[in-house]
Amino acid sequence: MKQKAIIFLFTLLLPIGAQAHAETSQIAYPEGYRHWTHIKSMLIEPGHPLENPFQGLHHVYGNDKAMNGLKSGNYPEGSVLVFDLLNYKQGGQTIQEGARKLVGVMVKDSNSFKSTGGWGFEGFAGDSKAQRLAGDGGQSCYACHASQETSGYVFSKMRK
Ligand code: HEC
Repeated sequence: MKQKAIIFLFTLLLPIGAQAHAETSQIAYPEGYRHWTHIKSMLIEPGHPLENPFQGLHHVYGNDKAMNGLKSGNYPEGSVLVFDLLNYKQGGQTIQEGARKLVGVMVKDSNSFKSTGGWGFEGFAGDSKAQRLAGDGGQSCYACHASQETSGYVFSKMRK
């Protein structure tokens, strides 16, 4: 009898717990990331396999925890990596940064993001801090990043 009551109480509380979880696992816009460590840059030209949606000039940034992870291969909880994708303008024998296309974010939080390698994936459109792009809980991001399992699901390498 007592056991039944406990199970009943548990099934009542379960949805509340699940809801709270969904809220806490929302990925925050990475405020101030341009002051973090710049890891690398790359220009993806039209015709590249990643053209849609990553054609453009991107810079990758990491917070201090992510930099420790990049060095050690073991990313601490709270590591954040940012993929800052910009349009570019060609002219006068130069290639210059244009408007921001999107901000891709990876946040290490092993409890909240068990199904995507312990990383939360999110994209923010253009300069928006609210318009989110990863509608599938980051599954499609993870599908590609999964190839980098041996380096913690991160493509970028530490510069020499
Ligand atoms: C088809 C493959 C693919 C998909 C899908 C993909 N990425 Fe990536 N991502 C890459 C590659 C390749 C790099 C490395 C780019 C470089 O070397 O400059 C990268 C780099 C990153 C980085 C910098 C850290 C690192 O791994 O080097 C972040 C942050 C990131 N992606 C976030 C996302 C998010 C968020 C999504 C989904 C909205 C996503 N990615 C979807 C291929 C992908």
